[in-house]
Formats: sequence, C-alpha cells, structure tokens
Amino acid sequence: MSEKLRVGILGATGMVGQRFISLLENHPWFEVVTVAASPRSAGKTYEEAVGGRWKMDTPMPEAVKNLIVMNVNEVEKVAESVDFVFSAVDMTKDEIKAIEEAYAKTETPVVSNNSAHRWTPDVPMVIPEVNPEHFEVIKFQKERLGTTRGFIAVKPNCSIQSYAPVLTAWKEFEPYEVVATTYQAISGAGKTFKDWPEMVENIIPYIGGEEEKSEQEPLRLWGKIEDGVIKKAESPVITCQCIRVPVLNGHTAAVFVKFRKKPSKEELIRKLEEFSGLPQELELPSAPKQFMRYMEEDNRPQVKADVDYENGMGVSIGRLREDTVYDYKFVGLSHNTVRGAAGGAVLCAELLKAQGYITKK
Ligand SMILES: NC(=O)c1ccc[n+]([C@@H]2O[C@H](COP(=O)([O-])OP(=O)(O)OC[C@H]3O[C@@H](n4cnc5c(N)ncnc54)[C@H](OP(=O)(O)O)[C@@H]3O)[C@@H](O)[C@H]2O)c1
Repeated sequence: MSEKLRVGILGATGMVGQRFISLLENHPWFEVVTVAASPRSAGKTYEEAVGGRWKMDTPMPEAVKNLIVMNVNEVEKVAESVDFVFSAVDMTKDEIKAIEEAYAKTETPVVSNNSAHRWTPDVPMVIPEVNPEHFEVIKFQKERLGTTRGFIAVKPNCSIQSYAPVLTAWKEFEPYEVVATTYQAISGAGKTFKDWPEMVENIIPYIGGEEEKSEQEPLRLWGKIEDGVIKKAESPVITCQCIRVPVLNGHTAAVFVKFRKKPSKEELIRKLEEFSGLPQELELPSAPKQFMRYMEEDNRPQVKADVDYENGMGVSIGRLREDTVYDYKFVGLSHNTVRGAAGGAVLCAELLKAQGYITKK
C-alpha cells in the first residue's frame, strides 16, 4: 500500500478543483484517489465530466483521467475512500457549512478553500507563514464536533494574499490605517476569457462580498485564541475597493499604510525579505524558499512577468515609497488560484500533516 495520504477533492471539476489536481500531480506526501463533484458529474470519468472545461496550462494528469467522479453529497461513501479532503465546491454557504461539517464528523479532516467556515469561531483560517498557531484551536473544534481526528481548517480569501503577509512582516512598526485597492483576475470567479467575454478590454468595479472579506479577514489572521475560539485583532483598520480587471491569473493590490512607528524604506524592505515561517523552517514540499521578494524596478511587479514567482506561492512587492498623505505606499502581487486558493490549501495540509493533525486513517 502506498505510504502517501489518500486525498479526495470535493469540487474537483471546477477551476480550483482542477488547480488542486494539477498541484498534487507527483506530490511527495499526497495522492489524489477520489474526485467528487455535483450529481451532474457523478458516475462519469473525470475526463468526461470535465469535458472542454479543463482550464489549466498543463495537461490533465493521466492518473485522474479515469477516476469515476463521485457525488459530493454521498458523504460516507466519499469519506471511506480517503484520509482527508480538500474542498472547493460551489454551493450555497449554508450547504457548504453543513457538508464540510458532515465530512469532519466522519473523522475526515477537511482543508477548505471555501469562505463558508472562515468565521466559524473554532475553525482556524491560516496562511501557514502568518498564523500557524491558530491550528491549536482544532482541539476545541473537535470537542464541539465530538470527533477524534475529523476537523475543518480553511485558508483566507485570495484577495488578501497580496498585502496581508506584507503587513504581517511590518507588525513591529504598528501599521494602524490601511487603504487598499485590489485589481483581481477573472480566474478568481472561476472563469477564463472564453467563458467571460464581457471581461475582454473591460473593468468591472464590483466583486460581490469581496470588500468586506478583504477588510476583515486580515484581522482574523492576526487574532488570538481565547476561550477556545479565535478572537480577531482590532487593528489596523483596513478599507478596500475590489475591482475585476481583464487579467487571467494574478491579483494585484495598491496599498497605502500609516504606521505608529514610521520606519525607513530600507527597514521595510529588509523586514519583507527576511520574513519566513514554519513552512520554510520545515521545508514543506510546496513552501516557497523566499515567501516575499522586493522588486526595485519601477515597473514591477507585473502580472505577466511575475505571477508565477516561486511556482505561484511567493508574493512580489514593488513601488514602495513615501506618500504625501499616508506614510508609505506599495504594490503587491500574488497568484490567486495558487497561493490564493489551491496552493495555499495544499500548504496548510502539508503543515497539518507535519504537525500530526492529518494522519493515515
Ligand atoms: N477561483 C478562485 O480563485 C477562488 C479563490 C478562492 C475561493 N474560491 C471558492 O472556491 C469554490 C470553488 O470555486 P471555483 O472557482 O473552482 O468554482 P467552479 O469552477 O464553479 O467549480 C465548482 C465546483 O463545485 C461543484 N458543484 C457545483 N454545484 C454543486 C452542487 N450543488 N453539489 C455539489 N457540487 C457542486 C462543481 O461540480 P460540477 O462540475 O459537477 O458542476 C465544481 O466541481 C467557491 O466557493 C469559490 O468561492 C475560488
């Protein structure tokens, strides 16, 4: 029997599901053994169910083509074939909440890309370099669920990865007021230009629910565990506008910051570049060697040139300069379906395995 952990992907036929499939091809610790999607896809081979919807640049891995797609709603059946699941289903929030909890209750850990449980008080929402200590809340969640190994862990929204890690690296300078505008790729909506022609040469100044997530989720990352739940941080205050732009992959953020202890530009760059965390220390398979890099060129980071930095797991920062109203301003870029979605979840699962939260059943 393979030593690798057996993985199931809920929502395997969608944009994020496909990214999971691609990222897990030849993964040293995890092997995709089960793919699940809606009843529309269930019973077909993965290749048939995806049909012309394969959206990745690399070909569909041979190993998954002939897997028979299972129905996400047949929880027991899916759960008995795997050690844990990644979740990327497009259902209503209440349905996702219920189904992810149902999986956890079958003693199957769920590492989710969905937003449904991001504010469930005892569910950790983690960027592994930023707040790995939040996984400690899992013991309280298991008590609530009555499980011994089943739990839910989530990763935050794709929009915040271009600036929340940066602000984390600058924590000692006490940022207290942040204004961010995000320029978000269409893959964040599960789309390509082929299925969203309206986006060609266009900008849409609205992404439903995104601004609140972009303002609030960083505060939860910086929160603390108190009385068995995560209490969000109070500061800095963040205000955000989120704009859909004609880019396939890569969310850019233009950010203004005020600090209580204003540092020099050199100190800020040094802190960024020196910042690393448990994924780097433990040399997790998907960890970027350099989480954040600073680019000196005035015209970087650029989506086309820089989005795949560190296989899409790194964050590129540039244009850091003093501002006339705020203390500093900068531009950040990250890959929304890699670091911001499937890759971020895979890194969470690697850390959960390394720390003994995910084991063989
Ligand atoms: N795209 C991103 O960058 C990104 C980033 C962060 C979070 N997210 C979140 O991740 C989730 C998936 O996003 P996506 O872009 O991959 O969506 P998507 O391309 O629309 O894929 C949706 C997946 O969910 C399945 N599904 C749809 N309705 C279902 C139902 N009633 N029961 C069971 N399964 C059902 C689909 O199966 P069928 O193929 O059978 O219909 C498909 O596998 C969403 O919650 C989204 O908000 C996306």
